[in-house]
Amino acid sequence: MKQSILFLILSVSIQFSFAQKNFVVNVNEKGAKIQPDMYGVFFEDINFGADGGLYAELIKNRSFEFDQPFVGWLPFGDITIKNEEPCFERNPHYVQLHEKGLRRGTGLENSGFRGIGLKKNAEYNFSVYARSNEGNEKKFRIELVGSNEDIIGRSELFIEGKDWKKYTVSVRSGATDPKAKIRLVLETQGIVDLDHISMFPAETWKNRENGLRKDLVEALYDLKPGVFRFPGGCIIEGNTLETRYQWKNSVGPVENRPLNENRWNYTFKHRFFPDYYQTYGLGFYEFFLLSEDLGAEPLPVVSCGLACQYESEECVAVADLEPYIQDAVDLIEFANGPVDSKWGKLRAEMGHAEPFDLKYLAIGNEQWGEGYVERLIPFMKAIQSKYPEIKIIGTSGPAPDGEHFDYLWPKMKELKVDLVDEHYYRSPEWFLENADRYDSYDRSGPRVFAGEYAAHPESRDNNVEGAIAEAAFMTGLERNADIVHLATYAPLFAHVDAWQWKPDMIWFDNLSVVRTPNYYVQQMYAQNSGTNILFVKYEGKNITGQDGLYASSSYDAASSEVIVKVVNASPGNQVINIQLDGLTSSIQDKHVDIITLHSYDLEAVNTLKNPDNIVPTKTFVRADSDGFELNALANAFYVCKIKIQK
Ligand code: AHR
Repeated sequence: MKQSILFLILSVSIQFSFAQKNFVVNVNEKGAKIQPDMYGVFFEDINFGADGGLYAELIKNRSFEFDQPFVGWLPFGDITIKNEEPCFERNPHYVQLHEKGLRRGTGLENSGFRGIGLKKNAEYNFSVYARSNEGNEKKFRIELVGSNEDIIGRSELFIEGKDWKKYTVSVRSGATDPKAKIRLVLETQGIVDLDHISMFPAETWKNRENGLRKDLVEALYDLKPGVFRFPGGCIIEGNTLETRYQWKNSVGPVENRPLNENRWNYTFKHRFFPDYYQTYGLGFYEFFLLSEDLGAEPLPVVSCGLACQYESEECVAVADLEPYIQDAVDLIEFANGPVDSKWGKLRAEMGHAEPFDLKYLAIGNEQWGEGYVERLIPFMKAIQSKYPEIKIIGTSGPAPDGEHFDYLWPKMKELKVDLVDEHYYRSPEWFLENADRYDSYDRSGPRVFAGEYAAHPESRDNNVEGAIAEAAFMTGLERNADIVHLATYAPLFAHVDAWQWKPDMIWFDNLSVVRTPNYYVQQMYAQNSGTNILFVKYEGKNITGQDGLYASSSYDAASSEVIVKVVNASPGNQVINIQLDGLTSSIQDKHVDIITLHSYDLEAVNTLKNPDNIVPTKTFVRADSDGFELNALANAFYVCKIKIQK
């Protein structure tokens, strides 16, 4: 804090200390096309991103399949775990309640994912599969219990018959509470079996059953992402091959999708999450549907037969890769195949007869070494022979330089993958120093997918320092949009009470969302990308950090706008004269729209209590005949939009 006050004093005292700069945008020379899907999002179930996050299920361990089957539950009375004659073959465990009429009650409570978030007057859809051992009618009391133990919602459920059946009932919450719980009490004497005990808010994104949290999807929607990479990250690799993400386990009826452990459960000893599993309730069908809702190109990642190389040396022999390759090929059929194909039929049965129009497929995540290359080859062969139109994404390893990177990039060129995935989690200084990273990249090889990146300040907070560094770096992505085709910040989501990794783009608790300064940087790029690169220069050179300034420019054919992005990452305000060179018609209304993200305090963040501390603001400046002046504050990112008369 002291540091930031010092910064504030320093920044104010050296206001406008540099001489005025002249930036020249050549509006005549339209450069390469900017991919319409360039700026996107990368989703991984880390930090309770899926279960406990985007996936709106409120009950943890709903199928009693966790290794310790009562995790998440507080059972009371006579209650046991069973698996004889189960309701669901692939999730066979269920719970048996025996109420002996001793008036103490038999039942169980579930405390959700660090509590259940309830909103006053909102409806919740409770459901359960049940059977009555004696066949007679049995009554359940269902209660929503606030964090102060008050009952804030109640309902009743009657079940009967000796066969498994699904029962549903709606419960209204009388209060708002981010950390409530649910209690079920069997009131009738006898034995009852229960499985897949579930509760969703009635209001989900598009009010779908098995739906997604509306506020979190809205945050994604507002980003206008062009591409949606899923489902990981390291979780596609698994800690072991057995626990890798297998997409076929994540489709079909939700109750029968087998549980998997989450790769992030024990990864960091100081952030230990033994209760972190994947239900796959948010599975590949839901990911494709969400991509479609967001207007983003789906970009799935599949296991290449190597378990996470940080965690294990387990791998499938190249000669035994066939089932893995088949999974990849079948995935394309699931996404794009006709409804009479095996996997296309399943997609149609799940509700989407139309293909999802999958264009990209990534093979492996952060793999390295020869082992990756020799596995990638047969994957490419199989995919290209059946689906030559699919763009294949290979990896360059876990870092943006070094041994693995230097080995893999030439190999990716040799193999002619379409795109190479690069990952960089580095300091803000690295981002500032690497804004010219792609200026000298080879234009003849594969294109670049910046598949995971984030500036990591010392505090690891989502602060202004990181956001401004990312904005500066991204001018380099935009200037090189001929070679950089896709870019996705990472990770996307984090639950404030259950994160393993930070910084993250969007934070949330059980009821609210925080959009970080980094989020707004992504949004400002995605919403103002333009259709073609324009070149902006300072003294004839790309603007890559001279006096802490960075810039890129584009033209948007649909709106006839010249867009200039400027980052002042220096601690002093600076005056910049931006001249549009080669204008053949005038600037409409002599008006320039300006969107600004700025704070003098590099450590400033958005929080649950103060989510709008750092948000973009809109203003405008007057232009003269061929340019305008920008008073660029310290630590600021600007998007300037100039409409050119037709
Ligand atoms: O984004 C978090 C993790 O970082 C991803 O799972 C992995 O690919 C990278 O190491």
